[in-house]
Amino acid sequence: MCGIVGYVGDGNARDIIIDGLKRLEYRGYDSAGIALHEAAGLVVRKQKGKIKNLEDSIAGETFTSSVGIGHTRWATHGAPSETNSHPHLSESGKIAVVHNGIIENYVKLKEKLQKEHGVKFKSETDTEVIAQLIGLYYKGDLMDAVYKATAEMEGAYAIGVIAADEPDKIVAVRRDAPLIVGLGTHCNFIASDIPALLKYVRQIYLIENNETVLITKEAAKIFDSDRKEVKRDVFHVTWDADAAEKEGYDHFMLKEIHEQPKGVGETLNRRLDDDGSIKLDGITISKEELEKINKIYIVACGTAYHAGLVGKYAIEKFAKIPVEVDIASEFRYRDPFVDENTMFIAVSQSGETLDTLEALREAKRKGARILSVVNVVGSTVARESDDVFYTWAGPEIAVASTKAYTTQIMCFYLIALYMATKRGTITADYYNQIMGELKALPEKIQRILDNEKQIEELAKKQYKLSSIFYIGRGADVGVAYEGSLKLKEISYINSFAIAAGELKHGTIALIEDGTVVFALATQDRLYDKMLSNIQEVRARGAYVLGLAKENNKEIEKQASDVIFIPECADEVTPILTVIPLQIFAYYVAKFRGCDIDKPKNLAKSVTVE
Ligand code: M6R
Repeated sequence: MCGIVGYVGDGNARDIIIDGLKRLEYRGYDSAGIALHEAAGLVVRKQKGKIKNLEDSIAGETFTSSVGIGHTRWATHGAPSETNSHPHLSESGKIAVVHNGIIENYVKLKEKLQKEHGVKFKSETDTEVIAQLIGLYYKGDLMDAVYKATAEMEGAYAIGVIAADEPDKIVAVRRDAPLIVGLGTHCNFIASDIPALLKYVRQIYLIENNETVLITKEAAKIFDSDRKEVKRDVFHVTWDADAAEKEGYDHFMLKEIHEQPKGVGETLNRRLDDDGSIKLDGITISKEELEKINKIYIVACGTAYHAGLVGKYAIEKFAKIPVEVDIASEFRYRDPFVDENTMFIAVSQSGETLDTLEALREAKRKGARILSVVNVVGSTVARESDDVFYTWAGPEIAVASTKAYTTQIMCFYLIALYMATKRGTITADYYNQIMGELKALPEKIQRILDNEKQIEELAKKQYKLSSIFYIGRGADVGVAYEGSLKLKEISYINSFAIAAGELKHGTIALIEDGTVVFALATQDRLYDKMLSNIQEVRARGAYVLGLAKENNKEIEKQASDVIFIPECADEVTPILTVIPLQIFAYYVAKFRGCDIDKPKNLAKSVTVE
């Protein structure tokens, strides 16, 4: 999704902004651009494709500016092209704008600007409308012009604006799209996300909806929609800038796969009291309120939705509350039955996914108690929730989500056990058994990672495949969906996941000689049934890659190849089962020469519908 970086200070604005944009590459983009205050006025440079293209195109130019704005664009209105890239200028060339989000009434505004003011447009974008509108209202006071323009703009967006006649400032606005301010010494920044600024600052203002920001070299001020200045606490970022780098791994995805023992361990250990009970700092719901809850919705998108499928399994099993898991883009439009006895759990790595956010707002309007499971601290989903349960995954840069998924699942186990103890639906023995299983998970994940070579070899053997099926039963079904999504998004292989028992109701027609089937058989009570499903597809010529717990050796007789995971209780297998699937997807994509961390057509944070 689009990324914004702005800088005012004494340094070289070009270098600092381009560096910041590179740190936002994980959000996904198709073009990049920069606007700088130079002696001759505003200078705009932009290029289609990677930031490197922009860098190369301006390598021979000298820029002295210490004020500017930059942008990575993910096309929404108008194809990816140099013309449609940001920054966009007003007709006079005196206002430059970068923008993340969508202006819903841009057609109406554009017509008004064209018909009533004779404005000529250069691009097909909604962003140029913003620049022209601000240009129309600009009479020497950028803040005033921005206020007047944004009063007419509808939609979800964040913008950064500079004016040629006020070379010492940047004005920015947040309305339903992420925006932060970085506070430096004799310099200040705006950005879409914290990693863009970590190299320079650790003191951050998290900007709220409908706030306007004015930054100069010496000051950063926030104003509300009535133009009144508001005070904001400084948020200090503790995570290391290095955490956002690759640390020697070929790709962020592989690095993040390897960070799972730590992330899963931290997500658990930070919530355990010395006596083994669960303390949930971000959750204020009382025992009485919890007792009233008679239904839970878990709502999310993509991988986070898959984590929700495991969450349903855990909450229903331990806390005995009915759970429905829904895709956010469906939930928000289907008028679901929600009331004050409903708990709504939003799951999101970024905390900025628009569909999840809108589903959350819909549930809130209907009176639900909102709990969110989020990775990015201070993100919009977190801020709009009654209770927040943070995953301790650290920054996830690769578009393909890995450590966010396993830490989200750990959160669900803790939430389920916490609810179960409050509601009295779990015995002390069972609680202690599951807690022991959870504590052992980081070390077991590490053992699977130590077996990476075997999985890499299997990927090498199969990477030319043209389609693949993932099958499983019970807790393995949700993991099959996740394994399938992981493979397709980074390797572009046609991949399909299905409950193994459903095969015979249609999909088995597609199994033929050489079809690859990844069969997940980790559930003890369903193991024999999975062996039968494996036989079914083998009989039709499939190559079966089996996955089972290490004591269940029978599968070696049925499957073509087998990956074993450490022994554990059926309830907690998903966190282990997914690890070989992530590694397999990674190496298949690597052998196929794919752009693993930034797959085509995808963005890390999807802040549009
Ligand atoms: O930031 P979120 O967790 O809300 O993102 C949701 C999905 O867009 C995300 O999980 C997506 O499916 C990933 N690319 C999958 O790897």
